[in-house]
Amino acid sequence: MAVHEFDGIIIGAGGAGLMAALQASKSAKIAVLSKLYPTRSHTGTAQGGIGAALGNLEEDHWEWHMFDTIKGGDYLVDQDAAEIMCREAVDTVYELEHMGLPFSRTPDGKIAQRPFGGHTREFGKAPVQRSCYAADRTGHMILQTLYQQCIKQGVTFFNEFHVVDLLVQDGVVCGAVAIEIATGELYTFHAKAVLFATGGSGRMYKITSNALTLTGDGMAVVYRRGIPLEDMEFFQFHPTGIYKMGILITEAARGEGGILRNNSGERFMERYAATLKDLAPRDMVSRAIYKEIREGRGIGGKDYVHLDLTHLDSKVIHAKLPDITDFVETYMGIDPVKSPIPIQPTAHYAMGGIPTNSDAEVVIDEKNTAMPGLYAAGECACVSVHGANRLGTNSLVDIIVFGRRGGKALGRFVQQAPLQPLPPDSEKATRDRIERLFESRGSESVARIREKLQAEMMDKASVFRTEGELKKMLDILRGLRQRYSNVCLQDRGRKFNMELLEAFELDHLLELSQVTVTSAMARQESRGAHAREDFPKRDDAKWLKHTLAYRDEELVSLKYKPVSITKFQPQERKY
Ligand code: SIN
Repeated sequence: MAVHEFDGIIIGAGGAGLMAALQASKSAKIAVLSKLYPTRSHTGTAQGGIGAALGNLEEDHWEWHMFDTIKGGDYLVDQDAAEIMCREAVDTVYELEHMGLPFSRTPDGKIAQRPFGGHTREFGKAPVQRSCYAADRTGHMILQTLYQQCIKQGVTFFNEFHVVDLLVQDGVVCGAVAIEIATGELYTFHAKAVLFATGGSGRMYKITSNALTLTGDGMAVVYRRGIPLEDMEFFQFHPTGIYKMGILITEAARGEGGILRNNSGERFMERYAATLKDLAPRDMVSRAIYKEIREGRGIGGKDYVHLDLTHLDSKVIHAKLPDITDFVETYMGIDPVKSPIPIQPTAHYAMGGIPTNSDAEVVIDEKNTAMPGLYAAGECACVSVHGANRLGTNSLVDIIVFGRRGGKALGRFVQQAPLQPLPPDSEKATRDRIERLFESRGSESVARIREKLQAEMMDKASVFRTEGELKKMLDILRGLRQRYSNVCLQDRGRKFNMELLEAFELDHLLELSQVTVTSAMARQESRGAHAREDFPKRDDAKWLKHTLAYRDEELVSLKYKPVSITKFQPQERKY
């Protein structure tokens, strides 16, 4: 058994993981493990910007940002956490600037800012320019900047190490088990603390903006160790994915003046959100697009609408939206300066995840009891600053603010915590899982099961939901689980066995889909991204509470905990 020993390990090398590593490694021996090369992490695909009330182009305040975040999240947001995020966003963006992040600039040299969905001035009066951006490559720039800083600081990286188990001894975290992808060897990482920053699980859906690697590994690994997942019924569909492919077309395209049009060329968002129109929050815009399509106003009667940029100055498009221009030309053969872009909503972001407090410590029950040595930040975590629907730009704020807080907290923890002994044969559970897969001589393939999962989740558990469809989905998941036990790997080698890794990933997606559907079936109301056609209204009296889903052998058992409400009482959500 090969064992590496560190004070703390950070799993995932996107923005949250790198920010945490930068902080924690100032005072402790830290390793970052990633199943990718770090600069290929999904943070790199975040396009339009990072929200912070800098007020560079017009008056803005962190309280306005906080209000928008809470209202955008349909009041399921923990307001103490939202206050921390919106206050600290300002300093954190300047910190990134000082690290060398090449933000776009105003003519007088300040960080440029633009409008984004649901971000307003004076508590909802009109859109405000709050999104700080680097053209439409903001996430890419954040990732490169943080990675450079980590290298400069001498952080240790284990690239292409896929973590598949968390080690816990007597209720205390003591490390993780990873497969080295190049060799297929198992490694135990023995540590006083572990921080998960493994991103989302969008690959449970057929049409998604998420990279192939977004299979919810971190969430599934902790869930299998008895830790609950919070608010997993809330999954965001970004309104503008490239038709049939799901590749993201940033909301910044609408921030720069882009307009959504139906088959008759109508700017239909005027009917759904009179004040913010195309810049309403994503849940509302995605539902509006589906409604237009269902009522026969999709383009040519098909299941897409147009994002129209043709009225914008071509210089603005090329300077501020260069990447999406390139994507649209490459994948659709369309020049967005001349022709509208066919788009449809695309699975984008898990609002739920591993429950944490505002220091990124993982909490395991309704009383928010922290589990010693376990941390999570970024999309795999639920702090919860996004509630039932995340505002655009707030994912980057979340990873930076709570990645930083988590890294600091972990750094403090390992100074005083003893190193727990490893459990006997720490790799046994993983070795058994691998051997089961290698020994199986069934007739099923990972790819076929995954394809069925993604198509059915898209059909039955996406933007609109009903009890009937969710029930059918649970039956389908039971069947897919059965089929999974008959998976036969074609690749029997140990080195770079991607089929083996995909089998682990599929296992995780099946697990998380079951949590999402079970949590969605129980929540008999519509709130944010969770739109139940059989319960179309928000029901604060019964449902203003967070879901906690626990693994109960093959089933999911649900508990609930209160939402933290400090400054803003729930109101009707009008835009
Ligand atoms: C976008 O640019 O629209 C995506 C960024 C985000 O999800 O916040």
